[in-house]
Amino acid sequence: MTRVFSGVKPTGHLTLGNYLGAMRQWAAVDQHRAESLFCIVDLHALTVDHDPARVRRLSRQAATLLLASGLDPELCTVFVQSHVDEHARLSYVLECVATDGEMRRMIQYKEKAARERARGGSVRLSLLTYPVLMAADILAYGADEVPVGDDQAQHVELTRDLAVRFNQRYGYTFTVPRATVPNVGARVMNLQEPLSKMGKSDDSGPGIVYLLDEPDVVRRKVMRAVTDSGRDVVYDREDRPGLANLLEILASCTGGNPSELSGVYESYGALKKDTAEAVVEVLRPVQERHKELCADPGYVEGVLRDGAERARAMARPTVDAAYRAIGLLPAASDTAASDTAAGDTGVVGSGVVLNAAR
Ligand code: TYM
Repeated sequence: MTRVFSGVKPTGHLTLGNYLGAMRQWAAVDQHRAESLFCIVDLHALTVDHDPARVRRLSRQAATLLLASGLDPELCTVFVQSHVDEHARLSYVLECVATDGEMRRMIQYKEKAARERARGGSVRLSLLTYPVLMAADILAYGADEVPVGDDQAQHVELTRDLAVRFNQRYGYTFTVPRATVPNVGARVMNLQEPLSKMGKSDDSGPGIVYLLDEPDVVRRKVMRAVTDSGRDVVYDREDRPGLANLLEILASCTGGNPSELSGVYESYGALKKDTAEAVVEVLRPVQERHKELCADPGYVEGVLRDGAERARAMARPTVDAAYRAIGLLPAASDTAASDTAAGDTGVVGSGVVLNAAR
């Protein structure tokens, strides 16, 4: 059966971008057709300046919102990254396979580091190594597919490179995953700055629709969205990014096509009004379920506890195999099992594996 892994980082309140680009697909499609794991990746939230209490609060909120968006613990595994040691264990080993140059080429690193330096802050080392931890998240579970928005595609590409490199050098250990990105909604842009992604950690509140925004707040934000000069409604990402963003949001919410929808509208006002209502309707059931779940925190905690237990059992064998393959001596209690299961790995020259350690 296909295995799917994806995650969301508790660095801010979840947004419409997170929902349309990733979460909705997880709930509507992935959990029904694949063995799926969805993770609140809290270790990743420590890569930038953070308030410990806020990270804890946002992690709980993200878990509640994942369930509110329709993830069903009977169908998939929902858990918190820091509850499963295997992520950090594998991350270090993968750091020994990744290169410094590879890390510095990551777009998100370059952007976030530049922003941090411009603010006069310092850049945490973990921001540089973050994509390796993300690779560990994915590879520990042998995921075949990683459903993400457009902005994460480069990180999944790196994950593939690391998996292939590890397998070539140390024997087949990791499934090589691929990113799956939605056709529409893969990059929802900030309503006030349509050339920037709608990001939950950004400062520009009025341009970001949060999943828990009240309907009137959503309407106000969409009605005040920056649009381009011109009066006709055309779908042109390059020259009319503000308008294109609204058409894509509307298309994603209603299951339409942005180009076809552009033909339906004669004014920006009508397009904004319909887009606002479509967003309100998409968020309504999520907000209702969120309210119910907030009244039952014990339920969410139980889901996370069971999820971590299941995730641990799934990740452990692969991470143990990676430790053996790369040359780490098994602890005494594991020796008998691994001696018979793995034997020596005969690596000849560079990357020729005679006897894979599995
Ligand atoms: P994060 O928390 O920034 O975003 C979670 C998911 O939402 C998508 N997304 C968007 N999609 C469309 N438009 C937007 N404006 C938008 N903003 C966010 C993201 O692409 C993502 O799919 N590094 C990841 C978290 C992570 C992860 C992983 C993901 C850590 N380990 C392993 C997959 C597999 C991140 O920061 O996502």
